[in-house]
Amino acid sequence: MRLKQHVIWGQRGSFILAATGSAVGLGNIWKFPYITGENGGGAFVLMYLACILLIGIPIMMGEILMGRRARANPILATAELCETAGASKGWTVIGWMGALAGLVILSFYTVIAGWTLEYVENALTGKFAGLDGESSQRLFDGLLADKGKLLQWHTAFTLMTVAILALGVTRGLESAVRVMMPALFVLLLVLLGYAAVEGEFVTSLRFMFSFNPEDLSWEAALIAMGHSFFTLSLGMGAIMAYGAYMPSNQSVGQTVLMVALLDTLVALVAGVAIFAFVFATPGISPGAGPGLMFVTLPVAFGNMSAGIVIGVIFFVMVILAAWTSTISLLEPGVAYLNERFGLSRILASLLLGAVAWTLGIGSVLSFNDWSDKQFLWGKSYFDSMDFLATNIMLPLGGVLIALFVGWKLRDEHLLHELKFESAALLRWWRPILKYLSPVAVLIVLINGVFPILRGVFVE
Ligand code: TRP
Repeated sequence: MRLKQHVIWGQRGSFILAATGSAVGLGNIWKFPYITGENGGGAFVLMYLACILLIGIPIMMGEILMGRRARANPILATAELCETAGASKGWTVIGWMGALAGLVILSFYTVIAGWTLEYVENALTGKFAGLDGESSQRLFDGLLADKGKLLQWHTAFTLMTVAILALGVTRGLESAVRVMMPALFVLLLVLLGYAAVEGEFVTSLRFMFSFNPEDLSWEAALIAMGHSFFTLSLGMGAIMAYGAYMPSNQSVGQTVLMVALLDTLVALVAGVAIFAFVFATPGISPGAGPGLMFVTLPVAFGNMSAGIVIGVIFFVMVILAAWTSTISLLEPGVAYLNERFGLSRILASLLLGAVAWTLGIGSVLSFNDWSDKQFLWGKSYFDSMDFLATNIMLPLGGVLIALFVGWKLRDEHLLHELKFESAALLRWWRPILKYLSPVAVLIVLINGVFPILRGVFVE
């Protein structure tokens, strides 16, 4: 049952901006540089690029065409497509698990995104001036210990997300990405230019692309694969929800290549710029893990000319990137409540925002009161949520999407959505989606997750 017809974005490029906005986020700027640093530099980058090509791009095409075919939110879309394809209703788990994964990811994502709000304030009020490694760590630890402040920023970012969603598909989502994405690209280019002039550019390139084969492992492969889903926003219906708003006369294949390219470029450029600043500052190390962006980078900003301006530019850019991502995490659920039950978008986004906000309280506490508490697999609450959603739910959702589109959807439906694609693309895409992507994901999942799950029972 369905109450309302979906809107379609009329303006050229809106879909690409929205999908790129969803894809480019904390995953690119905060996560990618430090997991690359931790998992072997160039070897990791290679595995990640292979995952994007062989798994990410084919599955993203599948998600978009499911959404565009059904012109509905992911839950109703999977239900409708099951019906027209004569497939079991069980496949609707794609929509349901996706909406759930979106809430889980949003719950911890807004906590980290909240830190960037605090760091804009830090940059503006000159707190970075003259920082060294130790005082920067103290500044960051001070924030993590202050659960009131963390909760305040977590709340602020959740409300920012809710506000855009409440404004609707055109006035909210479309307008937001049309303003924020160009601004983000300009800020990124300013940063890159500055890093090239003032930073240790060559050392940074060498670090990002150095190849250390001893760092290749199943765990690194799992992290690379999980990250390829995370960074392209795949496996949970975010891109499917946006696909429902995509005009029918746009090529799916070209669009997906563009989005994947932009997303990968932003990750690489952000990584190179960040490490160029880091290497230009004596006494700080590139392997700082999650603290890289919040501990190491402010030291670099605090010790260079124009550091205040560059610091503000950097953290504002991260806010824009994160904001255009959080809206896509909640959109599937909001569109579902709106289309299925006629709930207003204001009410729907407030309701789901409140659910994610509540789930996120555990993540806030995991940096202070609960820092010793273990939840799943010996991990903190925050790490449990991240691991569960990123490395399990997204890949599983991705496998199901690949199998459903590859095996269940009728040829005539696919061809209708793919009428602008080249013959070569059509020849390769379906077999990859049927066999290669699901098998690759399952192999990595089994080898990567089982040792971790077993670890719990052995210990
Ligand atoms: N891709 C975003 C990032 O890299 C995060 C994100 C937004 C996401 N929507 C998603 C991740 C949907 C998984 C699924 O920061």
